[in-house]
Amino acid sequence: MSNPLRIALTKGRLEKDTVALLETLGYDCTAVHEKGRRLILPIPDANLEVVLAKAADVITYVEHGVCDMGVVGKDTLMEMNGKLFELVNLGFGKCRFALATKKDYPFYDGFGVKTIASKYPNVTRAFFEAKGMDVDIVKIEGSVELAPLLGLADGIVDIVETGTTLRENGLEVVEEVAQISARLIVNTVSLKLRREEIEQFVKKVEEKLNDTEDRL
Ligand code: PRP
Repeated sequence: MSNPLRIALTKGRLEKDTVALLETLGYDCTAVHEKGRRLILPIPDANLEVVLAKAADVITYVEHGVCDMGVVGKDTLMEMNGKLFELVNLGFGKCRFALATKKDYPFYDGFGVKTIASKYPNVTRAFFEAKGMDVDIVKIEGSVELAPLLGLADGIVDIVETGTTLRENGLEVVEEVAQISARLIVNTVSLKLRREEIEQFVKKVEEKLNDTEDRL
């Protein structure tokens, strides 16, 4: 038998939904549920192996071909712009990128260059470049909402899911930047060398997603 197909899953929020999807496809994810601190888990009887990694690393491992496939948010894909195939929109992990400011802040008034804080400097740059607007971008690692509150930035470009974090910190969405959801990505060489196995897997995923949509 060939080496198992490796699929890298984004740890945390997307992990649960991805494991649930794999289970509805009939894959035995017991090892993932009982992982402890292990990071590579076998899916018995399927010649499949699950790798648990941070979002950006999922892209790196798939891009380098050490994982054949991956599940990662469109947010990280937009920021990293890797050389890989984005094959399926999995539909879960839905949220959006938005430009937000302190409530009632006149963001588009005046001619001064605005400062934007974000964990996603490339997405931020592309968004304002498309508007032909010059901005200063400050990279922040987490809790980006702090930056306008502390006076470091005029606004933030960040992920909004329920909107609770913005609301509870006196911030509001000024403009939507992009819709986000989880994507199934595939290494370009794997898709050539292991086409049949990957296509079979993708077909199963797509059939299940269509089935779910039909029932909604
Ligand atoms: C994300 C995002 C927002 C928050 C949005 O942060 O950066 O802060 O979730 O969710 P909400 O609209 O449902 O409130 P995360 O929890 O990943 O933590 P971080 O800010 O430390 O990266």
